[in-house]
Amino acid sequence: MKTIMVVGAGQMGSGIAQVAAQAGYAVILNDIKDEFVQRGLQTIAKNLSRSVEKGKMEAAEKEAVLSRLKPSVALEDAAAADLVIEAAVENMAIKAEIFKQLDAVCPEATILATNTSSLPITEVAAVTKRPEKVIGMHFMNPVPVMKLVEVIRGLATDDAVYGEIEALSRKMGKTPVEVNDAPGFVANRILIPMINEAVWTLYEGIAGIEEIDQVMKLGMNHPMGPLTLADLIGLDTVLAICEVLHEGMGDKYRPCPLLRKYVKAGWLGRKTGRGFYQY
Ligand code: CAA
Repeated sequence: MKTIMVVGAGQMGSGIAQVAAQAGYAVILNDIKDEFVQRGLQTIAKNLSRSVEKGKMEAAEKEAVLSRLKPSVALEDAAAADLVIEAAVENMAIKAEIFKQLDAVCPEATILATNTSSLPITEVAAVTKRPEKVIGMHFMNPVPVMKLVEVIRGLATDDAVYGEIEALSRKMGKTPVEVNDAPGFVANRILIPMINEAVWTLYEGIAGIEEIDQVMKLGMNHPMGPLTLADLIGLDTVLAICEVLHEGMGDKYRPCPLLRKYVKAGWLGRKTGRGFYQY
């Protein structure tokens, strides 16, 4: 495996592209608009500069990593990739369309992975003619920092493909953990109900935003409170995952109306400058 294309240059896609380039792969960073790709590349450059300033990376290494990243606004560029990792929005119709197009342009041997945080891998795989080469590769945010990758097989995923993705995850400095294809996998099945419960706690007036976060930080030693974390993930993504859990597993997972209201208002967290907090 030499060349990896990452589809989606947002916070997850740019993070994945960064760790892939740091692991020595040639990376094609793709999005629908050049401005999105450039924003992703700027984030990567900023992260690498910070590492250089802290003395954790040589300036020459930063330049080498950046030189391995190529911008793209055409999915056809996937024809040059040995692996595509899709990190577009958490929406099945959009992912299905991307996978159909990738399946049409990629050579037979290309592995197609999705960074979906909750959608069924088997369903994504089924829109392609290569379900045995489709797999879930779920990174955590912020990607350059978090060690976990959940690796999820679809019903038809080949063992050899699983093995390649497991080895790649390690090469990227991550620890792969195999989990089964079920709503939210493991990470989000446990995390998102906690965040949703924090929003219900706020909605019902039990405590304020900062108080809820303080309780979980100081009381449970979480590195950030659930509402701060929701702002980091993006409230649209939190809601989308919560909907998948609700649909797949029932009322226990019903999204709090306040979460919906924030998303409708366009208060999506850090990325829009306002969520539970203002940035
Ligand atoms: N990108 C790259 N690097 C980042 C970063 C970012 N966005 N944010 C922080 N870092 C780096 C810093 O540069 C710093 O690096 P060094 O150790 O090399 O100096 C390191 O991370 C620690 O950062 P800080 O000292 O600034 O702050 P911190 O100690 O509070 O850590 C944090 C920040 C790592 C984000 C920490 O608060 C944390 O672990 N939070 C929880 C994150 C979490 O739960 N993520 C999972 C989200 S769920 C998910 O992603 C799944 C999904 O599908 C929704």
